[in-house]
Amino acid sequence: IKEFGIKNEPILQYLKGSKERQELEQALKCTADCIEEVPIIIGDKEYKTKEVKYQVMPHNHKKKIAKFYYADQGLLQKAITVAIEAQKEWDQTPISERLKIWEKAASLMAGEYRQMLNAATMLGQSKTVVQAEIDSSAELIDFFRINAFFLKEATKYHPISENPKVTLNSMRYRGFDGFVAAISPFNFTAIGGNLSYTPALIGNAVLWKPSDTALLSNWNIFKICREAGVPPGVVNFVPAEGPVFGDTITASPYLAGINFTGSVPTFSRLWKQVGDHMGKYINFPRLIGEVGGKNYHFIHCSADVKSVVNGTIRAAFEYCGQKCSACSRMYIPESLWPEIKEGLLKARECLKIGDPMDFDTFTSAVIDAKAFARIKKYIDHAKSSSTLKILGGGRCDDTCGYFVEPTIIETKDPKDKLMTEEIFGPVLTIYVYKDSDVDNTMRLLDKSTPFALTGAVFAQDEKFLKHALEALKMTAGNFYVNDKSTGSVVGQQPFGGARMSGTNDKAGGPHYVLRWGNPQAIKETF
Ligand code: SER
Repeated sequence: IKEFGIKNEPILQYLKGSKERQELEQALKCTADCIEEVPIIIGDKEYKTKEVKYQVMPHNHKKKIAKFYYADQGLLQKAITVAIEAQKEWDQTPISERLKIWEKAASLMAGEYRQMLNAATMLGQSKTVVQAEIDSSAELIDFFRINAFFLKEATKYHPISENPKVTLNSMRYRGFDGFVAAISPFNFTAIGGNLSYTPALIGNAVLWKPSDTALLSNWNIFKICREAGVPPGVVNFVPAEGPVFGDTITASPYLAGINFTGSVPTFSRLWKQVGDHMGKYINFPRLIGEVGGKNYHFIHCSADVKSVVNGTIRAAFEYCGQKCSACSRMYIPESLWPEIKEGLLKARECLKIGDPMDFDTFTSAVIDAKAFARIKKYIDHAKSSSTLKILGGGRCDDTCGYFVEPTIIETKDPKDKLMTEEIFGPVLTIYVYKDSDVDNTMRLLDKSTPFALTGAVFAQDEKFLKHALEALKMTAGNFYVNDKSTGSVVGQQPFGGARMSGTNDKAGGPHYVLRWGNPQAIKETF
């Protein structure tokens, strides 16, 4: 896509004294000093209900940064009606005009609102400056620009017309006959923007339920898109209690799609509810989901130790292991273990854990009390098991913020739950295998979890790499060779997991926006 003039948004460096650093410091101060009140938005109207909620800073959980409200069932029904009405006009709006709105939104995100978005992501979701810049600036902007580019390219396809004077064939992209529900996670501000606005781009109207713990950054996206020209009712901002939202949308005959990123149980529940309501819908609702993962680094005896250590520390511990793609299990050959162990433990010691407002912080707090308790339970399991040994880290402290130390555990049992269950926290479990057992270990890796999101193989031996590419073919939707399992870039490594990690629709790829379309083939005869 580079040849068409489409480039990824450059990452800013925030060096001391730079303009962007000053602007960000100002935005952080503004965000930290107030509690922003965020209404429910349906069409052009604001609503407040009795169900008041607060978003706090995970690294300083006494401090609130946003006050918001849950939409009840009645309001959600209203949002469905408003969305269906708004979609009629929106779907008539020429694609060229919608593309201009997306370009304007991307420019606003890249320009005057960049630091507001970064500040809300840093303080509300406890992301460091680097992680916020990758997420709520670069990735978010890329989703808006690159999905618009892919839609524009798709409209250039003209079906064959053998004799256009007699028969003219064409295709047009419409939204669905109904509404789309977007349910987005806390861990990437950019995913919030992608799940809600990409279905809208191709002509749908959307009910967007943002994550409670990413409320402020997601609200900022909503405001920017309105300013860019997305008309009222096209995306409706409806924070709500999960089951109330799920029950209401799946019971509507007009549900045309669910765009979901979150947990396996929630996606499975929605899927089942859709099945239970089958027969009442006017569409087969399109279900797109990105859910669990148990991502791995597999190390071969020919691997370069330095890149293994650097890549693993970043993949396992950046953003507290809360990226969908984070590495949480590792397979290391006996011959390299002493060197890799030393490297990982030394590097772990140097990681600065703390306040994301400090620009040299490497990682901060996990997202909330529930996450803290879940991760702590896995660490406690390691403390009490005879086959597990904590090599570094293990401390958990939620006095002021939800802090969990980056933790490295060695296991003698490759089937222990630390090697098979998703933890979604800064916990890396390592199994050391006999060099001669490499094939069995790959088979074990393949069979030990239901997931297939990301995975990485580190090796210099090309013959082995070819073999591993086949042996591990089904284990990941995003597969890395000699690089960490995280950090996919929009338009470069389309992202999504297979097996029970999701429907593998590849966010940031050429087909993602089209999956939200309802194409019509037209044959005109003269
Ligand atoms: N793009 C992210 C990563 O690969 C996931 O959304 O880490």
